[in-house]
Amino acid sequence: MSAINFDTPINREGTWAEKYDARQALFGRADVQPLWVADMDFATPDFVLDAMRERLAHPVLGYTQVPLSVAEVVCDWQKSQHGWLTYADDIVWLGGVVSGLYLSVQAFTEPTDGVMVFTPVYPPFMKAVTDCNRQLVRVPLVNDGIRYQLDFDAIETAIGEYKVKLLLLSNPHNPSGRVWTQAELTQLASLCLRHGVTVVSDEVWSDILLNQSMKHVPFAHLSPEVAAQTITLNAPSKTFNLAAMHTAYAIISNPILRVAFVQRQAKTRASEASLLGLHALQAAYSDDGKRWLADLLNYLRLNLALARSQLDNTAIGLMIPDASYLLWLNCSQSFQTQAELVQWCVHDRGLGMSSGTHFGEEGKGFMRLNMAIPQTALRQALTVLTEK
Ligand SMILES: Cc1ncc(COP(=O)(O)O)c(C=O)c1O
Repeated sequence: MSAINFDTPINREGTWAEKYDARQALFGRADVQPLWVADMDFATPDFVLDAMRERLAHPVLGYTQVPLSVAEVVCDWQKSQHGWLTYADDIVWLGGVVSGLYLSVQAFTEPTDGVMVFTPVYPPFMKAVTDCNRQLVRVPLVNDGIRYQLDFDAIETAIGEYKVKLLLLSNPHNPSGRVWTQAELTQLASLCLRHGVTVVSDEVWSDILLNQSMKHVPFAHLSPEVAAQTITLNAPSKTFNLAAMHTAYAIISNPILRVAFVQRQAKTRASEASLLGLHALQAAYSDDGKRWLADLLNYLRLNLALARSQLDNTAIGLMIPDASYLLWLNCSQSFQTQAELVQWCVHDRGLGMSSGTHFGEEGKGFMRLNMAIPQTALRQALTVLTEK
């Protein structure tokens, strides 16, 4: 039994929640069960809300100068969560992880340079490249029937062929929830070092580790040489359900990269972390936060077990996530086209999931289901999904 009550449904209607309010625009009907945007239908922990309320007790909300002590809180969190030693001076505050992707593309590449992504992948990885008019180099992940694998030969060929200067890595991987192992990341890093490819490692899912036999490896933690070529992006937004607070950070130990990144941020006037978000982060990255996270992970592991048992022996294949609360569902057995699959899920069954092809053409035949919802709601969605 979980110590915290994640079971009681919370009505998010009328709270300007994208997952609910954008359903009509996205799915063509407002009554689908919302299983798409990657936020949780669970309450942000009380001690985090209290920290924001406490700051609101002071009535002046002017511009913010972030004290170094908040960056130290991030360093403590990275050390205790992942055994990674980082320095407060290396932290750059951001209004979102996606801003960090865009800034990196702009700061570290020229328009003729290739920027590599491993598809399928979270759509802004591709948009950041095309929006900034860089050359998008997609290297498909290989589905071995159980999970995705990195195709090192294809990666090396692409680096040489398309003048790749930057890699955007989803670590752990959205949409599949794959945690990349130390051995895989080491092999990838050695390719990147050999070819002078800078790496942006988006680690926003790193705290949501479901598979207890695995460990998240921060890419920059592999070696000092790798750290010197890495921009790490992270935030408390996924872990503590704080996306609306627009508070994220980059960790960049190489001062040359850090200065270039900060200069680009200044030039684009990209948004910075928010005052309330910083107070939330400080409260979340704490011993209370660790205890709450342990309860959340227990609950999500039970949800995953439920999904595995309900999808067992059905035509839908679940790619079991090591991390995240995303279920990447292979529905290709029953549908010829993505349009038919989406029509069936959304219109016939009323399930508002993300279409796999949003993550690249390799996502054809897949749907992504967000399982950070009460168990009764998940059971209902899975029942509807698997009913004949
Ligand atoms: C891999 C990944 N990066 C970034 C984000 C969003 O980050 P932010 O809202 O801080 O821009 C998400 C949200 O789903 C994500 O899955």
